Amino acid sequence: MKALVAPSYGPLEQLVVTDVPTPVPGPREILIRVEAAALNPLDAALVVGAMRDVFPVAHPFVVGMDASGVVAAVGADVTGYAAGDPVLAHTHFHPGTLAEYTTVAEGPAVARRPAGLDPARAAALVSTALTGECVVDALGPGAGRTVLVIGATGGVGSFTVQLASRAGLRVLATARPDDAAYARALGAAEVIDHTATDTVREALRLAPQGVDAVVDLVNRDRALAGSAVAVRPAGRLVSTLTGPDEFPVGVGATYVRMAVREGRLQALAERVATGDLTVEVTATYALADAPKALAEFAAGRHTRGKVVVTV
Ligand SMILES: NC(=O)c1ccc[n+]([C@@H]2O[C@H](COP(=O)([O-])OP(=O)(O)OC[C@H]3O[C@@H](n4cnc5c(N)ncnc54)[C@H](OP(=O)(O)O)[C@@H]3O)[C@@H](O)[C@H]2O)c1
Repeated sequence: MKALVAPSYGPLEQLVVTDVPTPVPGPREILIRVEAAALNPLDAALVVGAMRDVFPVAHPFVVGMDASGVVAAVGADVTGYAAGDPVLAHTHFHPGTLAEYTTVAEGPAVARRPAGLDPARAAALVSTALTGECVVDALGPGAGRTVLVIGATGGVGSFTVQLASRAGLRVLATARPDDAAYARALGAAEVIDHTATDTVREALRLAPQGVDAVVDLVNRDRALAGSAVAVRPAGRLVSTLTGPDEFPVGVGATYVRMAVREGRLQALAERVATGDLTVEVTATYALADAPKALAEFAAGRHTRGKVVVTV
């Protein structure tokens, strides 16, 4: 089968679409004929080896972790799926999804693709919606609070804004001027143009006592201290990256790792299919152009919504 392959750790320029063996589903595994696969920032990090201590990969490495397609075959002891079923899945990049076929274990990381949800949007929602839900879970219950979302118009941010606003939180969202209407449509009460203003200063103007929480999807480590300044005493900073456990004036930090829990992917897919939640696919590439897709994505050419490769 054809797949986007990294022969070794190294620059994105080494990526090539080439033939690799088609994966064979083992016991309790599902073979998916991929129709669409979404790109995530982690894909590029795994190729260059930036995360090899945490997430080592074997080479040749097939890139990608989110996909939607149709079940091609099932391994022994698969009970809930059969050939022909439309699905969406998170493979945790073993094996990759930017390929004609991939496999996933039957369980919480695979769901049925609801009618009305096309393969591109289905692939686009997988890691983003699951992570956005984990972020909003980390904010805890309590409608009426104010949360600043930095990185609101990207994949995770778009779901964070939607889920937080639907949970009753007042969302201040960063967005470029061209994306301001998009951020408001997602549920932002206020939009901060981070390209023209200081995000923290503007957040403190909008919430003079400090926001109850900051969700920072952009900064990591020491840079997070700057974002924590926007938080009221004893408030919370939530990040999908890494950083200190605590900041001045008792601001605590929660570092979220995407979790794949039973039923969650199915429920999120159904909410997108019914229009309760939305996911925007801003760019689509053919598999033959997947090296260009990942290079342009990593270079920041597409910063709103999701980039998808169709197979
Ligand atoms: N821990 C986990 O399990 C987990 C899971 C998924 C993702 N992540 C990580 O979470 C981060 C976000 O992921 P993603 O998929 O949402 O990425 P993404 O789709 O690339 O979105 C990033 C967003 O940040 C915005 N941005 C960049 N610089 C900014 C700034 N200075 N101020 C405000 N906004 C800025 C970008 O848009 P503009 O520049 O146009 O505003 C873009 O919308 C990534 O680092 C990813 O690796 C972690």
